[in-house]
Amino acid sequence: MATNTIPDIRLNDGNTIPQLGFGVFQIEPRDTVAAVREALGVGYRHIDTAQMYGNESEVGQAIRTSGLEREEVFVTSKLSNAFHRPDDARKAFQSTLDELRFNYVDLFLIHWPLPTLYDGDFVSTWQALEEFKADGRARSIGVSNFQVPHLKRLAAETGTVPAVNQVEVHPYLGNEQVRAYGREHGIVTQAWSPIAQGKVLDDPVVTGIAGRLRRTPAQVVLRWHIQRGDVVFPKSVTPERIAENFRIFDFALDDDDMARIGALDRGESGRQGAHPDTFDWMPA
Ligand SMILES: NC(=O)c1ccc[n+]([C@@H]2O[C@H](COP(=O)([O-])OP(=O)(O)OC[C@H]3O[C@@H](n4cnc5c(N)ncnc54)[C@H](OP(=O)(O)O)[C@@H]3O)[C@@H](O)[C@H]2O)c1
Repeated sequence: MATNTIPDIRLNDGNTIPQLGFGVFQIEPRDTVAAVREALGVGYRHIDTAQMYGNESEVGQAIRTSGLEREEVFVTSKLSNAFHRPDDARKAFQSTLDELRFNYVDLFLIHWPLPTLYDGDFVSTWQALEEFKADGRARSIGVSNFQVPHLKRLAAETGTVPAVNQVEVHPYLGNEQVRAYGREHGIVTQAWSPIAQGKVLDDPVVTGIAGRLRRTPAQVVLRWHIQRGDVVFPKSVTPERIAENFRIFDFALDDDDMARIGALDRGESGRQGAHPDTFDWMPA
């Protein structure tokens, strides 16, 4: 079965995560059950959701009705920006479990550091996540959109190193400093918007390599992430693309192709999403 071909990556707490997953950001709740079912049918065993995506309940429903055992699917969710105060985080985390109708998640993340809000305090939020790990309701805990100074602060002020840091990474934004810090400190990088929401797929370097290898541009870019060692979870509501994005373990890019895609890095100007130092959006 194709699932066996997806490598597991070991986290710093001893747990493992499938290197390829399925992201559900911007999938409408009414479309989420079908999309997640499609992905599970293709062989994905890792789903990335968040409180702010508004579709945790549908993710849980799709998994519960899939015929798979709970332990066969790795599920990540993330704390809403609205709930960083520890008491709020505790209630919100339980609401994630209630929405999913699971008694644990595999991974729970602080979604954004929000350094301009909450008096700049994401440390007490992290300490709340440490409780969820300690009581077993979160098998692993991590962060998202943390910059190097944010990670250094957690290292200085708390006792747990995040298992992962989920940040924007794609050929136009290599995010090398954050990735290097993760590599040096045992934090797995998860690359969000791995195909830059489609914006890198017309790049001539990518299409050239895809044409030569008889692969699609999305497969080439996702393969590039895999060979760099990052975890990815492309999002699609299109069955053909869900299947296409899964078929990336039966070919390899050579060093030259890897370097040419890496050279597309535009630094900060390649960033598509918000900057973590200033992002302060609050859900209504
Ligand atoms: N932590 C964070 O702050 C954060 C932020 C953003 C994303 N994420 C996570 O990362 C996941 C992926 O990122 P993303 O959803 O922003 O973007 P993405 O996966 O880079 O791109 C998704 C877009 O590309 C299209 N697409 C997918 N596969 C394709 C293919 N093979 N060929 C052509 N187009 C294709 C999809 O269209 P269709 O759906 O119409 O097929 C959709 O418009 C999210 O779902 C979420 O789980 C996390």
